[in-house]
Amino acid sequence: MLEVQGVVKKFGGLVAVNNVNLTVRKGEILGLVGSNGAGKTTLLNIISGIYRPDSGSVYFNDKNITGMNLDKICKAGISKTFQHAQLFPGLTACEGVTVSALFGNHHRVRRDDAEREAREHLTFVGLPPEKHDTTLAHLNMIELRRVQLARALASRPQILLLDELTTGLNPSEGTEAIHLIKKMRDRGITIVMIEHVMRVIMGVSDRIVVLDQGEKIAEGTPAEIVSNQAVIDSYLGKNYAQ
Ligand SMILES: Nc1ncnc2c1ncn2[C@@H]1O[C@H](COP(=O)(O)OP(=O)(O)O)[C@@H](O)[C@H]1O
Ligand SMILES: [Mg+2]
Repeated sequence: MLEVQGVVKKFGGLVAVNNVNLTVRKGEILGLVGSNGAGKTTLLNIISGIYRPDSGSVYFNDKNITGMNLDKICKAGISKTFQHAQLFPGLTACEGVTVSALFGNHHRVRRDDAEREAREHLTFVGLPPEKHDTTLAHLNMIELRRVQLARALASRPQILLLDELTTGLNPSEGTEAIHLIKKMRDRGITIVMIEHVMRVIMGVSDRIVVLDQGEKIAEGTPAEIVSNQAVIDSYLGKNYAQ
């Protein structure tokens, strides 16, 4: 469904993503892990059209989307949530999602239909109806994450790219987030997710790709990844030692 071929991204002299190949299969949950600065966010930013790669290509449903802008890629069916979510704090949850339903996809939606759709998405992600008209400034972390997911759903993605969705959540909220991610996959959405918490990524991923200093060092099932020596040396060892 998604094919990343030999992608390179440099920031000045720093090679943030170095010749990475990646295949995402329809219907799977693919986990992307690696230490801080490994290039995970940069890679998703290239796929979603925030950055243009210095070289390499990205294909989506056999179409070359390399270098297309964010808006066009979103309308084509790839949606990304942000590691540091920034939305206008004065908007209500419903308004934030309605904007995405109106402008985030290639379907023509009327304003009142968009609002109804927004409320359906908010309910699906578990934001109680009495909070639909609360401003974002008055929502807590898990509620904001739900709104983020509802916004992404409103753009009707085929692939959803999630950047550290569970960061800032407590363990039981993290478990709820996993449940939600699986629920979205069950709706037919393919998911690529960056995640720091190993318990989360192991429990939810069909396959895992490990990046280290911009390079892909391993990929496989969760069981293969935990027993991969290169991964233990570069990532798991460090993490468990902390
Ligand atoms: N916009 C940018 N300008 C300059 N350097 C960047 C930029 N974005 C990321 N980097 C650098 O690229 C490397 C990879 O960053 P990033 O993709 O954010 O890693 P990760 O998400 O795995 O923690 C890091 O060294 C980071 O400092
Ligand atoms: Mg990151």
